[in-house]
This record gives sequence, C-alpha cells and structure tokens, in this order.
Amino acid sequence: MDSFLIRGGHRLKGKIEISGSKNSALPIVAACLMADGKTTLKGVPRLSDIDSMCKLIGELGCHVYRHEPQIGPGERRPPGSLPDMPPLNGPLDIEVRDERMSEARYDIVKTMRASICVLGPLLAKRGRAVVSIPGGCAIGDRPVDLHVRGLQKLGAEFRTENGNIVGEVRGRLRGCRMYLGGAQGPTVLGTINVLCAAALAEGETVLVGAACEPEVVDCAEMLIKMGAKIRGHGTPEIRIEGVEKLVGCEHRIIPDRIECGTFMIAAAITNGELELKNCNLDHLIAVQDRLDEVGVKIQRQNGTIFVSSSRRLNPVEMTTQPFPGFPTDLQAQLMALLCLGDGMSVITERIFPDRFLHVGELNRMGAKVRKEGPTAVIQGVKELQGASVMASDLRASAALVLAGLVAKGTTRIDRVYHIDRGYEKIEQKLAAVGADIERIKEKSAVAA
Ligand code: EPZ
Repeated sequence: MDSFLIRGGHRLKGKIEISGSKNSALPIVAACLMADGKTTLKGVPRLSDIDSMCKLIGELGCHVYRHEPQIGPGERRPPGSLPDMPPLNGPLDIEVRDERMSEARYDIVKTMRASICVLGPLLAKRGRAVVSIPGGCAIGDRPVDLHVRGLQKLGAEFRTENGNIVGEVRGRLRGCRMYLGGAQGPTVLGTINVLCAAALAEGETVLVGAACEPEVVDCAEMLIKMGAKIRGHGTPEIRIEGVEKLVGCEHRIIPDRIECGTFMIAAAITNGELELKNCNLDHLIAVQDRLDEVGVKIQRQNGTIFVSSSRRLNPVEMTTQPFPGFPTDLQAQLMALLCLGDGMSVITERIFPDRFLHVGELNRMGAKVRKEGPTAVIQGVKELQGASVMASDLRASAALVLAGLVAKGTTRIDRVYHIDRGYEKIEQKLAAVGADIERIKEKSAVAA
C-alpha cells in the first residue's frame, strides 16, 4: 500500500490535462458486452477500477486490447489538450469472442461496486447473469434494489443464491413504462443498467425518474452509435425503442468532471492559478456556482477552464444533489476548502448521508468540523497542519490531498490505493504545477 508525502504551502500554477471520466468509462466498458464486432473506446483513463472492469469483461469472454499511447495519422487529441503533456492513453478495443460465461465473481465485485453494470447487458444479450451482491462500502450502505426492480419490470426473473444475484430471461426482455427513482432520488448506474437492457428489449421502454448525469448521457450516446434508438437521455424521462442487435462502434469518453472539480478546488485552496484542459464546465455548473460564492475566479474558453483565487474564502452552504446539483463526489473536496473559509459553512449530504469519513481526518489536521446527522458544520480556521492521515475512500482521499497541499508542514497519507482507483497520475499532475508531493512505494513506506 503506497503512501503520499506532501509538503504543503506551495501555490499551484500551470496547466493540467483532465482525463476521461472513470464513472462514464466503467459502465460503457460493461455495455460493450452487448455489441457484435469490435468497439474502440478513446479517452479511457488508466485506473485500477478500469483494469478491474476490463478483467471482468475478459472473464466474460471479451477480448480487450489497449493500444500504445500514440497519436496516429488522422487521430485528433480532444479539444484543448496539451501537446506537451505525456501522451494520451491509447484507445481500448473490446470485442466479444465467447458468450458462454455469465458470472461476475465476488473476487472482482468486492473490489469494485461498478461490476453491477454487467447485470443489464448480460441479461439482455445472454439471457442470464450471475453477479455477486456488492456489499456496503466506505461511503455507506449501497443497495442495488432499484437495478433489480427495473430489470424485473423488463421481464427478468431474479433469485439470490449463495451471495449472488441470479437473473434469467425467458425469451427476450420486453419494454414497458416504469418509474426508476428511489428514496434518495434517481440512481445513476441503475438507470444505465436498465437503459442498456432496454436497448435490446422488444418494444418501447420509458424510464421515468431516470438519472440525468452526464455519464448516463455518454453511455446513451455510445449505445446510439451501436444502433440503439434512444431519446430523452439527459432528462428524467428516457425513451428507448428496442432493437434486435447492437454493433461495435468508436466512441470517446467525456472528460472527468469530478477530476476537473478536484483540480479547480486545488487551485482555490492553494491560492493558485490553474489552466485545466479538456473540460466541460457545463457538467460542473453547480460547482461553479458554489465556488463563485466562495470567491474563486473561474473563466472558460472552449474546452479550457482558468481557475484562480485570492486568499479570502467566503463561507457557503451546500447540499449534494443529483445532477445538475452539486455532486456528492466533490463534497469531501469542497469541505477541505471550506475548512479554511472565513466563517462558518454548512454541508448537507443528501445522496450518501454517511459519506463523512474524511471529517475525522481533516480534524486531525486542525480543521474544525462537527457532524450532525447528514450535515457537517465547518468552522473555518486560519491554517491546517500536516499530519499522518488515512485515506478511506476515493473522494475522501482526494480531500486529504487537497488539505495536505495547503497544510503547514508535512502530511503523510496512507492507503492511497483508494486514490489510484479514480485519479489518473494525480501526483504527477500536481507535481507538474508546483506541488511538493511524492509517492512512497509500499516497501519504503514500511521501512520509513
Ligand atoms: C454512481 O454510483 C457513481 N459511481 C458514484 O461515484 C456516485 O457517488 C454516485 O453515482 C452518485 O452520483 C459510478 O459511476 C461508478 P446511485 P451509483 O445509484 O450509481 C441509492 C465515486 O466516488 N440507491 O446514483 O452506485 C443509493 O444508496 C463514486 O466515483 C438505492 O437506494 O449511485 C444512493 O443513496 C462513488 N438503490 C442513491 O440511490 C439502488 O438500487 C444514488 O446512488 C441504487 C441506489
């Protein structure tokens, strides 16, 4: 388990290129199980979660091949990308070669909850799916009842057997009109699972209460390139006219809005000036709104965002919400920033009410955060101090990195494998703009 050592106090200045979205790429890779022929995905980030998903679909009979990171003739970089940055990731080719397997093993599902994304595609294409039931995780209880209910409405039958969800379809799935929302609102991966299955179902499916996140839209766009008939994606009502088959296509993954938001906050917290390339600020409208209120300056020019900040950070109130609201995946990072606000801020977590493991660690660094149910009250302090802290989940870890960048002295963050699940080369990207951050490899970490 590697660690990060961060010596805080450096102002970040320079350019960072944003990677393709992890949360878009994961279900899109799973959706490739439904296509005949080869699909080529561009902009898939190199992350451990993506490796796990590729391993999973590999076990399910897909041939997966990652090209070398080269720009070939006729190949274009995404708008705004930096010619002087390390080469972009090579495209990922996926082709189904064997459709006999239908089981997602616990070994993989337990490391990555997004494995549930193979459920809809397997049922629609192979008529059977066995997926280990994902347990809870550091951000709370994470049920999959809405995924199962939606697929049941399309005609799949389910039972649980030895910790697995076993789904079967007699004949073909059949489209219908259904409500997909749950107690906490829409479900992102649940919407994508049902959307994928409906693409190959017989007749029309109408998903009411669907998630509107850009990742849902990206998946729908790829399915359309494969031959699916989908309308209304990006709104709460998606209409899908089932087709008999989908064929491989070429698709570029959207920029990672959460990575982008994290670096926007990195600029703000270090009083820095960052130019973020390959971004879509429309995907971050609520984040821009809150950061505006904090006093962060944000400008956009095509696919580039310029972020700068002055020392004074205004306190704000924020509630996480489904898109286009403020994303839960940036809640911890905003909290790190507000720890240095000039007054009292309030954050309420409406998507995952227990997602506050970072509070204790931020307090160890001198923050003053008090948790009251799904709400955190943050009393701004003048400075944070370096400390040894523990990464608990992906976004909480990112918040600790942000705090470490500005803290006085040295911060050591253990268990950074959580960060490696979702931030591509984060230490290299931060070091390139002036951060003093180094990765201590497991062996030397033990010796240290
Ligand atoms: C996706 O998870 C993301 N994961 C999460 O990102 C993100 O936090 C979340 O959406 C919310 O935006 C991926 O895309 C791989 P949900 P997902 O179903 O789809 C409840 C990160 O850090 N619910 O939209 O699993 C659920 O408990 C990660 O990158 C049910 O009740 O989240 C929550 O309260 C972590 N029953 C709410 O819905 C269900 O069957 C929204 O969850 C499903 C969900």
